[in-house]
Amino acid sequence: MTTWDSTSTDPIALAVIGGTGLYKLDWIDTVQRQSVETPYGQPSSPLVFGRLGDVQIVFLARHGEHHQLAPHQVNYRANLWALHQVGAQQVLGINSVGGIRADLRPGTLALPEQIIDYTWGRSSSFGKGAEGVLHVDFTNPYSSALRSRLCAAAGQAGVDLAEGGCYGATQGPRLETRAEITRLRRDGCDLVGMTGMPEAALARELGLDYACLAIVANWAAGCDPEHREITFAEVQSIVVEVSADIPGLLAALLRD
Ligand code: HPA
Repeated sequence: MTTWDSTSTDPIALAVIGGTGLYKLDWIDTVQRQSVETPYGQPSSPLVFGRLGDVQIVFLARHGEHHQLAPHQVNYRANLWALHQVGAQQVLGINSVGGIRADLRPGTLALPEQIIDYTWGRSSSFGKGAEGVLHVDFTNPYSSALRSRLCAAAGQAGVDLAEGGCYGATQGPRLETRAEITRLRRDGCDLVGMTGMPEAALARELGLDYACLAIVANWAAGCDPEHREITFAEVQSIVVEVSADIPGLLAALLRD
């Protein structure tokens, strides 16, 4: 394995964290892979550096390259630290989710704006900054600059992107009950997923520009008008289908 040339002056334009069904980016020209260590342990996968057009990007598989880590087992701190350590400033988390709101049907690509965190027991802070315990502003959990650029890029690339909505982050690894989804809807959640937190909060602590690109892979529990069971195979196949739009979207994002 080659090592990352930390003396390279070519900045990393974007870091991408791939979720369920997205374990590598076939459409980048891979330049190097690097296994890194952080003060918080090892990230979920080696970092894969590659080029998209004229720019450099780095990819990390959130669940590991063989989907060996459940959402509550992911070392979110090591993942974010590793990306920060290699110089990423902008991070796009790609997450498969269930659709709660009626228009967020399977196959939709969404750009949520808010989060409600129902996860527990995860290491959700780097602890201390230079001035003591970190109490970062999280009023708007995602980077508005990166979200605006993604919306513009979607327009240029002709990709449908459902902008807005609230991501409910649940603990998993099981899917939710119908009653839990009823409660999430009442709370104001439009999408449900298991990996959106603490990733977004850790990115904020490190001062990274972070946004979530959510792939609606299934109807959340009890929301399917046809009452079908949710299967992992279906989730994966929809993610693969929707992911076809991502190269064009990111090429447009990184062209500006
Ligand atoms: N619930 C939670 N996480 C998910 C779902 C879901 O329905 N689909 C994909 N990730």
